[in-house]
Amino acid sequence: MKIGIIGGTGGMGEGFAQRWCFNHDILIGSRDKQKAEASAKENFNNIKNIFAEKIRGTISGDDNISISKESDVLILSIPYENITSTCKDISNVISDNCTVISPIVPMGRNEKGFYYIPIEDRKKSAAMVVAENLPNCSKIVSAFHTISEVKLKNLKISLDADTFVCTDNKESLSLVTSLVNEIEGLRPIFLGALSLSYQAEVMTPMILNASKHNKLKHPGIKLV
Ligand SMILES: NC(=O)c1ccc[n+]([C@@H]2O[C@H](COP(=O)([O-])OP(=O)(O)OC[C@H]3O[C@@H](n4cnc5c(N)ncnc54)[C@H](OP(=O)(O)O)[C@@H]3O)[C@@H](O)[C@H]2O)c1
Repeated sequence: MKIGIIGGTGGMGEGFAQRWCFNHDILIGSRDKQKAEASAKENFNNIKNIFAEKIRGTISGDDNISISKESDVLILSIPYENITSTCKDISNVISDNCTVISPIVPMGRNEKGFYYIPIEDRKKSAAMVVAENLPNCSKIVSAFHTISEVKLKNLKISLDADTFVCTDNKESLSLVTSLVNEIEGLRPIFLGALSLSYQAEVMTPMILNASKHNKLKHPGIKLV
């Protein structure tokens, strides 16, 4: 399967690429093709040096629009503020069958701590902004909000955490469930409709405040 990562040069993008290249062809996307190529080369070399025999996929890089055309799954690994402009660029090129994943957390920070932008500023959840800006896409899934980039990129550790998944599409739910299960120690927990995504997104600023005040290192969430 071809998994494209828009904004794949960021920390989360690199983590997804490294975790999934064992079984899939990863297309790292960037606004700058050369930056994407360099990131892909560096990530693939790093991972091949350690896990050479286990890797059946590849990591390559290209501009965001080119990778969007080819991807079976497309992750929007970009800041909340850039959803509209990015979706405008890709909405007419993604295939009808493409599943789009949003790990996006609308989060800010002020003197009191981290906060969830949609509550403070009366805005929509990230998943709802994605849906609004990709009107032809019926396969949008929201997931991976509470996973720390640091842990995602460290392949020596098992994540030992849950990730909440929201979608209106059964086929995409099954696909993303299997992608979550490919990440060691990560368990998918289905929350329901895409419109409920705010319930997952809001947990990230909560985790960061808890981490800061209680000296917890990159904590995640697990239902017990
Ligand atoms: N970091 C975490 O631990 C974490 C955890 C859970 C969820 N998330 C969410 O996952 C997403 C990605 O996180 P991240 O930390 O990897 O983000 P990031 O490093 O801040 O940004 C990721 C990429 O977005 C692209 N980008 C930056 N400005 C842009 C713009 N104006 N227009 C289009 N693209 C732009 C950049 O790629 P190019 O410059 O190459 O185009 C950048 O490498 C975010 O929405 C975040 O809320 C993060």
